[in-house]
Amino acid sequence: MRKKVTKAVFPVAGLGTRFLPATKSVPKEIMTLVDRPLIQYAIDEARAAGIEDFIFITARGKTALADYFDRSSELESALKASGKDHLLEVLKTTNMESGTIAYMRQHKALGLGHAVWCARRLIGNEPFAVMLPDDIIASEKPCLQQMVEAYEETGGSMIAAMEVPDDKVSSYGILDVESENGPVVKAKGMVEKPAKGTQPSNLAAIGRYILTPKVLKNLDKVKKGAGGEIQLTDAIAMEIEKGRDVFGYKFEGRRYDCGSKAGYLQATVAFALQNEELGGEFREYLQSVVANDWVAQ
Ligand code: G1P
Repeated sequence: MRKKVTKAVFPVAGLGTRFLPATKSVPKEIMTLVDRPLIQYAIDEARAAGIEDFIFITARGKTALADYFDRSSELESALKASGKDHLLEVLKTTNMESGTIAYMRQHKALGLGHAVWCARRLIGNEPFAVMLPDDIIASEKPCLQQMVEAYEETGGSMIAAMEVPDDKVSSYGILDVESENGPVVKAKGMVEKPAKGTQPSNLAAIGRYILTPKVLKNLDKVKKGAGGEIQLTDAIAMEIEKGRDVFGYKFEGRRYDCGSKAGYLQATVAFALQNEELGGEFREYLQSVVANDWVAQ
């Protein structure tokens, strides 16, 4: 029997410079998509996939994130007293059971690989998930759940993957494809942010990973790579070099890059349209905006 994936690492130490000045005092993971902070989408997806332990790799200036997952007894009492039971229920989805959430500081911004490596002692000798909360994936079955199901069949390490156009390959980890079996793609290599024209394929890694503990061991040895950072991609590539299985998983769903302004706005529109309370009115509004070419003055 394969060990179940019950732990997930959330690297949230980034400065969010692309959203300055907003992120000067608000961690980007707390930025709101309709009515929930970005991080809540990742947490909900993780829970749906059976994750029980949540490990945040944070940094200075991210205390708002820890506060968000803390119980707010004052707010709960106020909502109870005023009979706002629905809001009380909504609020409770943000509470994490004591002992299930851990915060680990990444003391130096040395890259994604280093951030994941910081969780090594909490992970131990188990397979684990990595979720990059910037990547929001809208799908019928949550992306990580799709991957956990596939992983139970294949073992090895598994990376969410999606085709990207040539001019975007240099923003991603790119897989070198050996063979394909439905959504599961066997990788024979992986390279971080290749220059356009040098990519082994157009299949890019998206921010959901299921990794074996061996990847953590590789991270002990990985040297600085693309951008002068310790890259998770390089530790995964090392797995392939050692002859171990690494798969890409072409997930079903639409991915939004909420680490960029354009992607964040697209996600906002998509999730607002799908929202029961807002959807109809918002659709009409958008149609008027387009028809009349309205802009903020
Ligand atoms: C990171 C990874 C990259 C991956 C991407 C997905 O890059 O290093 O391999 O393709 O996330 O969003 P970043 O976006 O942090 O530069």
